[in-house]
Amino acid sequence: MTDSVDVAAFAGIAGSLAREVGEVIRAKRAVGVTVAQTKSSLTDVVTAADQEAERLLAAGLRRLRPDDGLLGEEGASTTGTTGVTWVVDPIDGTVNYLYDLPAYAVSVAATVEDGGPGTMSDGRRAVAGAVYVPTSGELFTAWEGGGAHLDGERLPGPADTELGRTLLATGFGYTVERRTEQVEVLRHVLPRVRDIRRMGSAAVDLCMLAAGRVDAYYERGLQPWDYAAAALIARESGAVVRGLGDALPGEELLIAGTPRISAELATLIEEAYRGL
Ligand code: IPD
Repeated sequence: MTDSVDVAAFAGIAGSLAREVGEVIRAKRAVGVTVAQTKSSLTDVVTAADQEAERLLAAGLRRLRPDDGLLGEEGASTTGTTGVTWVVDPIDGTVNYLYDLPAYAVSVAATVEDGGPGTMSDGRRAVAGAVYVPTSGELFTAWEGGGAHLDGERLPGPADTELGRTLLATGFGYTVERRTEQVEVLRHVLPRVRDIRRMGSAAVDLCMLAAGRVDAYYERGLQPWDYAAAALIARESGAVVRGLGDALPGEELLIAGTPRISAELATLIEEAYRGL
């Protein structure tokens, strides 16, 4: 079911849907944005475009892969019969979208739950995925064993550097409790790296890592739709995607970088959590 032919085809489906829906949300942005509701806190918004984009992704997947399951950030949830579940984030970087800042993306991944290498803490493993950034027109794609690509060109992955020269991307959750803890961890990490970048979209962060535009990334509190496609793209570019200690990467923590930097970063973050 998920042999190399299928997963390459899945990446094609993910890429064309992400691009198609990305162009719709870009056009909507030019007209204006409406906040439809808030979620975990007042700052965690859902725009009408998020909802419309998820409907479009769901309709496209129903048409192309009617028997597969679907899980979406804005509530889409269907159980399929094939063992494949599509995990979609209609707009990752919604706050950027709200403010008309460029780092937002549509993320589409085909996942399976067979416990194979690359399984995340939510139990799923992406076998193919795409992240489309409408403001730059860049389409990042990957399928298992096929490498990661930007508009068809193979991505180099992060360069090997030392921790003190690492440009580190990270992000913050939406609740006061989570942010307070994240700031404390950052107090320990920031003095030990080159600098940090908070781009506002986990999917974009991980694609920037795959493209070698940042050296490493970590975040706590991500949901499957934030990372499903992009973690595969990072891994297929040659990056290590890991959690803390032996834990699988995912909501508790996702760290990505070269083998050396991801290990050093894990140690640093563990130290920071121990000191909380
Ligand atoms: C958020 C972004 C952000 C990350 C948050 C996510 P959303 O997703 O990926 O960079 O720091 O943890 O929730 O809400 O824009 O889809």
